[in-house]
This record gives sequence, structure tokens and C-alpha cells, in this order.
Amino acid sequence: MQYGKRYTILFAAAVCGVFAILVTSSAVLLKDRQEENFRLDRMKNVLTVAGLMEPGQKLGRAEIQKIFDENIESRLIELKTGQYVTDGPDPAGYDQRKATADAATSLKAPDNRAGLVRLPKMGLVYLIKDRQGVRPFSGLLLPIEGKGLWSTLYGYLALESDLNTIRGITYYQHGETPGLGGEVENPKWKANFHGKKVYGDDGRVVFYVKKGLAGDDPHAVDGISGATITSRGVTWMLEFWMGKDGYGPYLAALKAAAGGAE
Ligand SMILES: Cc1cc2nc3c(=O)[nH]c(=O)nc-3n(C[C@H](O)[C@H](O)[C@H](O)COP(=O)(O)O)c2cc1C
Repeated sequence: MQYGKRYTILFAAAVCGVFAILVTSSAVLLKDRQEENFRLDRMKNVLTVAGLMEPGQKLGRAEIQKIFDENIESRLIELKTGQYVTDGPDPAGYDQRKATADAATSLKAPDNRAGLVRLPKMGLVYLIKDRQGVRPFSGLLLPIEGKGLWSTLYGYLALESDLNTIRGITYYQHGETPGLGGEVENPKWKANFHGKKVYGDDGRVVFYVKKGLAGDDPHAVDGISGATITSRGVTWMLEFWMGKDGYGPYLAALKAAAGGAE
């Protein structure tokens, strides 16, 4: 009996040990793979909102990398000044969300309606290359995030080279209700954004998600019915990120570099 008890304990300990080793080693061995998948997923999101890949299109790793390299230039900016970071980390490996969560690489966010608590010191932006080589870039992709009803929504806003006209929007992660707030993913709703303007004549962010139909208002898109809170979250995150505490300084620097030309 005594032997039986000891045997059971030892057996259970051995099984626990074996599984602990298995779980730890697979986490270590799969780390590179996970990071590579994260990078690939990010490239897919960027290419989709830039209109360089169809939503849901199945492409191989090498092909995605090729389209990305040919069309996109990733740059790090200092959010506060809007200047490019020249001696920072490699943009390919930079994770803006991790940076936001880390006190060493983020700052307390100023009061805002987007529900943001911290802001990364550096932002990762994507320039869509001008294939004709005439303009410095043909469009711009900016990471956005902000609170909806249940969750923080993460996405990208794509701008045309005038830095005012919206080219597209995408949300790649959120926890809103499917069929209600989750309609931020609906291609029909997202299509509303194309061609709308972010800024008014005075340079302030005036774009908003209207409760109801926006008609031909150049600064508004239709609200999502039954999801006023998520819709308002979209308005407020764009208000923040396109404003002075978000990408405003960077957009101003780009305009200044282009000689003030719109
Ligand atoms: C189960 C459930 C899920 C909901 N999910 C959302 C949501 O994802 N986003 C949202 O804005 N409102 C959601 N709502 C509705 C909100 O509680 C609120 O009533 C709504 O935003 C008001 O929108 P309306 O004025 O267009 O009706 C949900 C309500 C229920 C009961």
C-alpha cells in the first residue's frame, strides 16, 4: 500500500514534469514562428487597407513580402514632434501595441474621448510608394485604436497623398458584438469611408460617424444601426489620432516638407 502511494505520487510528478518540459519547449520553439506570423498578419492588413490586396485573398508568405517591399515603406516617427526616428529600432520588428503597454516606451495620454490611457513614444507609419516615382508617396497608412462599447478596436486608416482624403479603413481586432458594433468589419460599411475628408477648411478634424445616414456629407459616414456607442468610438478615435496629440505633428511635417502643398 505504502509502495502504491509513493508510486502514484512519483508517476504524477513525472507526468507533470514531462508536460511542463513539452509546453515550455514548444513555447520557446514556436516563438520565432509566432513573431513571423504576427509580422505576416500585419503586412496583410496593411496591404488590404492600402488596396494592394483583396480582403481574404490567399497569398503565400513570399508573395506577401514581395508586394509589401515593392509598395510600402515602413517608418518610425516620434509621435510628439512628428519627426522620423533615424536611430531607432528596425520598423519591421517594432510592435506599436507592445510599446504602448510598456511604461518605458510610452507616455500617459492627454485627456481624450477615445479612451486611450497611454500613447507610444514612437508610432509606426506606412508610406504607400508612388510607383511612377513622381510624388514622395501615393498614400499613407496610420495605425488607430480606441474604445468601442465592449473593447478597444485596433485598425488602420489609409489616407491619400493630400493627407486629407480617406482611402480606406480597416479594423483587424475588436471585441464588439457581431452584427452590431462588429459591423465595423463589414466591407459595405467600410466602403463608405472612401473619398471622405478628415479636415475642415480651418484644419480641424471634422470627420464623424453620423447617427443615421450621412448622405453626401463629405465629412461623414453612415452610423451603424443599433451600435451608436461603437460608431461614436470610431468618430472619437479618428478625432484623436488625426489631431494634435496623434499624427497631427507628423502630417504637418509632411506638408511642410512638401512646401505646404496639399
Ligand atoms: C447584447 C447586446 C450587444 C450590444 N452590442 C453593441 C455593440 O457592439 N456596439 C454598440 O454600440 N452597441 C451595442 N449594443 C447596444 C447598446 O447597448 C446601445 O443600446 C446602442 O449602442 C444604442 O444604439 P442605437 O441608438 O443605435 O440603438 C448592444 C446591446 C445588446 C443588448
